[in-house]
Amino acid sequence: MQPDTQKKLHNGVAIPTVGLGVFQIENGPVAEKAIRSAIDAGYRHIDTARAYHNEESVGKAVRNAGIPRDEIFVTTKLWNADIRAGRARAACEESLSRLGLDYIDLYLIHWPADGFEVAWSEMETLYREGKLRAIGVSNFQDHHINTLMQNATITPMVNQIECHPLLTQKPLREYCESKGIACEAWSPLGGTGGNLLDHSALAAIAQRYGKSVAQIILRWDIQGGLITLPKSVHPDRIASNINIYDFELSAEDMAAIDSLNQDRRVGPDPDHFNF
Ligand code: A2P
Repeated sequence: MQPDTQKKLHNGVAIPTVGLGVFQIENGPVAEKAIRSAIDAGYRHIDTARAYHNEESVGKAVRNAGIPRDEIFVTTKLWNADIRAGRARAACEESLSRLGLDYIDLYLIHWPADGFEVAWSEMETLYREGKLRAIGVSNFQDHHINTLMQNATITPMVNQIECHPLLTQKPLREYCESKGIACEAWSPLGGTGGNLLDHSALAAIAQRYGKSVAQIILRWDIQGGLITLPKSVHPDRIASNINIYDFELSAEDMAAIDSLNQDRRVGPDPDHFNF
């Protein structure tokens, strides 16, 4: 394996730097086929959530992949209603049961919903019990992490955030790095229905490297230290999205992509969400 196919979380657990994101992929044959294609193409990392309603398919595809369980990294997430209801342990056990797995590689607080401090304490216990190999947060701003850390005994291993060339999140990423928290990018390609893949500056870079715009963005992610979670249901795109380890972007091109930032979100703002 080449060096940047994996990263080490602060507890020593290795995480593949590209994972298949399965938001909005329908539970059942569609999800199972997409995950199967991903595993066949070399993915060893699948990112789901309670709220995506496809944990059953993720578990089934992982269990039937013909790959040892400990070679596939599975993430799922604690949903807001369960955080607010103070039922992190029950929700985690329900996710394990839907997945049909004995442990989860990474369990994340999906959004900073009220009660996340209590949820974190329960997740620390589940982690110590060995049901979770790593724990983290998602959609947390620096002030949410500061609040969480006031009573935490374990620093989150991960913060999964919206991140792409129009929302580079440099300050938050630097803050996380200073705490040893790895950042993961959701909607790395600008999300479903976005037009980031048509961006002319990215297209020009892609042409020079003989790569697709998606490959350029995903390479920029991992070269910038991110773990990236592109979503697709198409086997050809799934395969090409992980085919990014055989080239390197120059420092100038990394900086050119950084400079496209407009602080423009495609998803909800973590400081103002209503679900
Ligand atoms: P599809 O599932 O039809 O392939 P993000 O990962 O930022 O959420 O973006 C995912 C969107 O980009 C999805 O709509 C997905 O559609 C599309 N997509 C994923 N990979 C590629 C690719 N290599 N080329 C073009 N579109 C892609």
